[in-house]
Amino acid sequence: MNEMTATDLNPLEPERDDRCPGITYTDMLNLDTRRPRDFLFEESNLDLGDAPIDTARYTSEAFAQAERDRLWPNVWQFAAREEDLPEPGDNFVYDINDRSYVLIRQQDGSIRAFHNVCLHRGRKLRTQSGWASNLRCPFHGFTWNNDGSLKEIPCNWDFQHLADRDMALPELKVERWQGFVMVTENHALPPLREWIGPAIEHYEAWRLDECHTLAWIGRMIPANWKATAEAFMEAWHTIVTHPQILPFTADANTRYDLYGDHLNRAITPSGALSPHLPGKDQMYVIDKLAEFLGGDSRGRRSEMSTDDLMGFAPDDPLLARKVLAEANRRAFAAASGYDYSDASDSEMLDNFTYNLFPNFAPWGGFVPNIVYRWRPGPDPDHCLMEVRILMRTPKGKTAPKAAPMHLIPDDQPFASASHLIGAALAGVFDQDMENLPYVQQGMKASANGRLELGHYQESRIRHFHRTLDKYLSGALP
Ligand code: FES
Ligand SMILES: [Fe+2]
Repeated sequence: MNEMTATDLNPLEPERDDRCPGITYTDMLNLDTRRPRDFLFEESNLDLGDAPIDTARYTSEAFAQAERDRLWPNVWQFAAREEDLPEPGDNFVYDINDRSYVLIRQQDGSIRAFHNVCLHRGRKLRTQSGWASNLRCPFHGFTWNNDGSLKEIPCNWDFQHLADRDMALPELKVERWQGFVMVTENHALPPLREWIGPAIEHYEAWRLDECHTLAWIGRMIPANWKATAEAFMEAWHTIVTHPQILPFTADANTRYDLYGDHLNRAITPSGALSPHLPGKDQMYVIDKLAEFLGGDSRGRRSEMSTDDLMGFAPDDPLLARKVLAEANRRAFAAASGYDYSDASDSEMLDNFTYNLFPNFAPWGGFVPNIVYRWRPGPDPDHCLMEVRILMRTPKGKTAPKAAPMHLIPDDQPFASASHLIGAALAGVFDQDMENLPYVQQGMKASANGRLELGHYQESRIRHFHRTLDKYLSGALP
């Protein structure tokens, strides 16, 4: 076998001094066995400068309060998946900060969302998701229909003064996209389609609405929600934090794209050698990825067969990508009944980590998709990090109802949820967790109160803060 590395290729793209030298992601797309979609080629950068970021944004209670006041009520939030509440009468509680919402599946299949608060003396109406024919407050029994209209007030003779008042439950605006149920308190917000712009087109073929929640875990992290989210906005910490994935993760070749205010993405090539590991051949890439996944059927990819090289030339510089993509095409088709024969190698392999501002990251592509969400904790030093794994529902079958979130106890590692998300992925998260508490502590201990960002590889973090500032200053929505 020839020892060929990515850097042996003649770059098809001109070298740029603000990118990792060697093969670019665009080169890989050009060498794909299928023509990838145009929007994968398109680069979208914004020059956002290089000013430091103030650590108080992560540590100050006043800043967290400003977010509660100005940000959260004014954004589209991922509240639930369709399969969390599949049947009429199913309700689903979504709490964030000090707010509580209840989503209810209606008789006609639509979903409505209400503030989950009794209009009598303020008890939360539902403390758990479930099924009910109406919403009856457990305190004195004020009852609302599932469409939010008032049904009954016990001892009505004592509440005759409410007869002329609007006693319907205050409602949220709801939109559904790709199986995600999105809500906002702000009824004047632009429609979701407008808000997330190009994501609408990008996800069209990936059809996450044809997927279901295979697993859903959460863990309270002793770090600010933004610091935690930002640990998933760049791939370049792989070199030190996740060295075991370098043999099949082209970390430094990651593409970072910024769109408008609410969308950005990183695409990290998989099945390709990290530029930090020169001198390894393509079989090394294949073997290491197979070993990493190790028949872990709950991981991101199914078991693969690499017995033969599937007809590709052994000296093909992107042999591993081609073999692994083809293995995925076969495995996913067998598992789901869908046809992937036209899908690009890129969409069968790569990590499409899209972020929808502020706290929602549904991965794209055809691999079993990871979905992240980060919710602020009770103080700026904590957050709830959630991970869902979406799996394509076999063609013609109905998605199973999602199991509730498995909350990992504070003293347990992600590895304790290996049976749900796979040992390989859990191991990666536990490596991230070895940084995050110390990131939070370090920011509080900082002498200069500043963070410095890489110009390109950390551009999504800067983009995120630019948008956050727009909300806090009132420039948005
Ligand atoms: S607080 Fe709900 S009925 Fe009294
Ligand atoms: Fe990481």
